[in-house]
Amino acid sequence: MQELAIAVGVILKADVPIGESVTIMGEPSQLSRMILNLVTNGIYYTPSGGMIIVTLNYTEYHALIRVQDTGIGIAPEEQTRIFDRFYRVQSDRSRGTGGAGLGLSIAAAIAHTHRGNLKVQSQLGQGSLFIIELPLN
Ligand SMILES: Nc1ncnc2c1ncn2[C@@H]1O[C@H](COP(=O)(O)OP(=O)(O)OP(=O)(O)O)[C@@H](O)[C@H]1O
Ligand SMILES: [Mg+2]
Repeated sequence: MQELAIAVGVILKADVPIGESVTIMGEPSQLSRMILNLVTNGIYYTPSGGMIIVTLNYTEYHALIRVQDTGIGIAPEEQTRIFDRFYRVQSDRSRGTGGAGLGLSIAAAIAHTHRGNLKVQSQLGQGSLFIIELPLN
């Protein structure tokens, strides 16, 4: 994804613990699709000069993948609707991109089929944080 990030002028970073393995059970192509959908959104909905950071952590029972951006943010009343199929926030802020409104519904469905979940925390104009929680193997 670095190429896309460079093209739109944002910094994409990963912070993943080296030397510690975090093992989950799942379908690799679906899991990478889920993460790619979130990183793509981070890149598209962050104005140039911003940053997207992907981190991996874990708790006793779960792996936690966080995709955080310094982008346009999502209003509280939109934060549940963005996971609906074909839903896109209708405003000048996101008109520039031509997405279908499917990326987050696919990402959430993949998280759920892996007995995990996908949550968002966001503030309009400040940025967004998407957290994927997946059961450890
Ligand atoms: N990181 C983000 N920052 C701000 N708004 C976001 C972010 N991620 C998603 N959104 C909002 O949620 C909507 C739904 O996202 P989703 O990924 O499902 O669809 P999309 O990006 O519009 O199209 P695509 O199907 O190509 O992914 C987006 O249109 C956008 O309005
Ligand atoms: Mg998308």
